[in-house]
Amino acid sequence: MASTNFPTVTIQNSGHQFQVRPSQTVLEAAIDAGVNLPYGCRNGACGACKGKVVSGKVMHDDFQGSTISEAELAAGQALFCCARPLEDLVIECRELSSVAGIKPRLLPVRVQKKEQLTGDVMVLFLQLPASERLQFVAGQYLEFILKDGKRRAFSIANAPHDDALIELHLRLIPGGQFTQYVFEEMPEKAILRIEAPLGTFYLREDSSKPIIFVAGGTGFAPIKGIIEHMIHQGMQREVVLYRGGRVEHDLYMHALCERWAEFLPNFTYIPVLSEAPVDTQWQGRTGLVHEAVLADYPDLSAYEAYVCGAPGMVEIAHQTFVKQGLSVDAFFSDAFTFAPK
Ligand SMILES: Cc1cc2nc3c(=O)[nH]c(=O)nc-3n(C[C@H](O)[C@H](O)[C@H](O)COP(=O)(O)OP(=O)(O)OC[C@H]3O[C@@H](n4cnc5c(N)ncnc54)[C@H](O)[C@@H]3O)c2cc1C
Ligand code: FES
Repeated sequence: MASTNFPTVTIQNSGHQFQVRPSQTVLEAAIDAGVNLPYGCRNGACGACKGKVVSGKVMHDDFQGSTISEAELAAGQALFCCARPLEDLVIECRELSSVAGIKPRLLPVRVQKKEQLTGDVMVLFLQLPASERLQFVAGQYLEFILKDGKRRAFSIANAPHDDALIELHLRLIPGGQFTQYVFEEMPEKAILRIEAPLGTFYLREDSSKPIIFVAGGTGFAPIKGIIEHMIHQGMQREVVLYRGGRVEHDLYMHALCERWAEFLPNFTYIPVLSEAPVDTQWQGRTGLVHEAVLADYPDLSAYEAYVCGAPGMVEIAHQTFVKQGLSVDAFFSDAFTFAPK
């Protein structure tokens, strides 16, 4: 049982309470207590966990300066993934119901199959121990726990109904400790450790608004999981999938997206290349993927946007979509930040 000497956090909106052990951040303690605050990277790089400290003091671990400004900190805002309470806190933040009751677990996994799709994209299929299955919501991610204790986050690309294997899409990071190992050395059947499921990038099913998905590179992974979940559930919401890549080669699983567009009513697929060579056969859209959305939707107020990929793309999409009418509550994202050094 939790000691009563640890700081207690009370969420003002709901009255939910939990205690924070000395080794924990506010977010870690909330996850532990089954309280679902929004978050993405868990390391101060994406800003998804930002909320307000109404009373009490926190101390922040390291975070990236771009995620929260001095003015926001002075106004009592905090990044709960890096904030440690110095006393009891009352905080103000959104709570999420869809991941309620699903607590992340530490599990061993076996690499069942490695499938290199392009020079820098590898699909990994992971097998859980025979007696286990992973309960998760489409769009969530897992973290590998490396031998030195470091963690690396990757989104789950399959939907929960199809959970015999966990599918991941890894982009090779030159000089990257984990992805370079996976591409160059890791044998099939290797045993790895994961913590899963994590994250709050999932479909808000209580809405009927049409959806604009924007996937940059391997940001396609969680969006694939969400779309396959929607197909399985027979959801009828209008969906437009924008995929961004530099060159045609970057649009791995392009044929799958074309099949969705061919067979699903209410589904449109718009691939966009930012560096299509002049002599290419490419007949499709060119430019930056978020600019294609802005050009097609002068008024985004009736839509929801789910955006995933490089942090710069996610940030610019957020800023410009909101400027073009998207409600701030209708923007959901996972930014593929690097693990902390
Ligand atoms: C929630 C979440 C989900 C993710 N899902 C996916 C996914 O599905 N697929 C996918 O491909 N990736 C995903 N990522 C990104 C992935 O976790 C990182 O790219 C990871 O760091 C790669 O690990 P690595 O060990 O290969 O590289 P690292 O060892 O982490 O990085 C090494 C390289 O990156 C450089 N680097 C490190 N930190 C920084 C920095 N802050 N700024 C600039 N350069 C830096 C280093 O100099 C070095 O060259 C996700 C990230 C998050 C947060
Ligand atoms: S900054 Fe806290 S979850 Fe990303």
